[in-house]
Amino acid sequence: MNKFYHIVTYGCQMNVHESEKIAGILSGMGYESCDFPEQADIVVFNTCCIRENAENHAFGNIGMLKKLKQAKKDMIIAVGGCLPQQMNKAENLHEKFPYVDIIFGTHNLHDLQSLIEKKRRQKKTVIEIEDSEGEICEEDKPLRTSYPNAWVNIMYGCNNFCSYCIVPYVRGRERSRDSRKIIEEVRSLIAEGYREITLLGQNVNSYRGDLTFPQLLEEIAKLDGKFRLRFMTSHPKDFSPELIEVMAKYPKICHCLHLPVQSGSDRILKAMNRKYTSAQYLEKVAALRKRIPDCAITTDLIVGFPGETDEDFRATLALAKKVNFASAFTFVYSKREGTVAAKMPDQVPEEVSKARIMELVELINSQTRALSQTYIGKTIEILCEDYDGKRGLYMGRDEYGRMGYFPCDKNVVGQFVNIKVEQANGVSLTGNIVD
Ligand code: SAH
Ligand code: SF4
Ligand code: F3S
Repeated sequence: MNKFYHIVTYGCQMNVHESEKIAGILSGMGYESCDFPEQADIVVFNTCCIRENAENHAFGNIGMLKKLKQAKKDMIIAVGGCLPQQMNKAENLHEKFPYVDIIFGTHNLHDLQSLIEKKRRQKKTVIEIEDSEGEICEEDKPLRTSYPNAWVNIMYGCNNFCSYCIVPYVRGRERSRDSRKIIEEVRSLIAEGYREITLLGQNVNSYRGDLTFPQLLEEIAKLDGKFRLRFMTSHPKDFSPELIEVMAKYPKICHCLHLPVQSGSDRILKAMNRKYTSAQYLEKVAALRKRIPDCAITTDLIVGFPGETDEDFRATLALAKKVNFASAFTFVYSKREGTVAAKMPDQVPEEVSKARIMELVELINSQTRALSQTYIGKTIEILCEDYDGKRGLYMGRDEYGRMGYFPCDKNVVGQFVNIKVEQANGVSLTGNIVD
């Protein structure tokens, strides 16, 4: 009898990649992937708690499985990731959803097999939340699902303690992987046919192996084969001239940088504990653009941080106008228990934050659209990622991260194709293959 697993993933690329590791563990135990929880013998929720709505989303979906579990008593439901790693959350989860079989934290992922075996032996819920991060586990072999891209962790955890952010509490302190292991992993991924490597870490610039981050990036960029190299995320305080030089020197490194600024107001940046001013951010952007004029810069922005005045918000708009981001993720501040900002006075009323985010999104969208228009008539190189059945078109991205759609009568997923852009619809481009 075949056994099936279904994984539901929330949150960042780190979690997306960890779900690939969960898939690796489950397939090693003889399970196969399936598309719906109704077909599954085990359902794993890999959760996120970065904002309240991420939590609510997970809670809602775990709640929806109650009926299914009543009908399928042998089905195992496991909840892991960042949500249960928060203080007292595992107990809350257990009380709220007593039918969940396994609750595990971010540092227990590689124990999943033994947790499942333990659950089979006992009736009561298995709860395993390790407090300390321990050694990096190199054993988990991911079952990758994002071909032609491959995610590669270079480090785990975060030491920055931005005052709004829960990540350092749920992911522990920074740990860097051995550079030789990273380079070996990338080498074999390229040999297997992966065409895009994305190095992952909460703050890749504070990678501390026997190499610095720019040195590591350089070693990977020197590997043979045609592939694109990306990395995320860069913290502006650690973004260095050495990194700009390496990016400029190796064509394999995409001219594309995600550099979250969060706010344009120095007062708010200080309260956020970001350790740079808006002027310092703009200087780094200017240095990058001087050396790599075509570099696309993307960012994250938060509105409604405690104490944010209209003037602070105007400073964020002004900074976004100056930089002209290729695109941006915009968020309304969400209070996270246990963080420093949660105790700050002057939490901003919801209506004010909503009005601010609408204004900000409008600005970012207009910048993104204007940039798309400049593409019309140009030929760009796309790495084909997928076939979009709804549109009947293949899709992929250029090195700057811009999405492009095109028709093709053969499967070109995983191949580089040149397309001439004919139309720009908001953020995405449409065109036809040219030689
Ligand atoms: N380590 C990365 C990303 C962390 S989370 C970095 O430092 O850039 C991704 C984004 O979520 C952050 O950049 C921030 O913009 C947003 N974020 C984090 N905590 C938040 C909170 N409490 N409320 C709203 N947005 C938040
Ligand atoms: Fe959170 Fe700041 Fe660390 Fe990013 S750098 S994960 S925003 S604490
Ligand atoms: Fe969410 Fe955890 Fe990533 S809180 S954003 S899944 S590190």
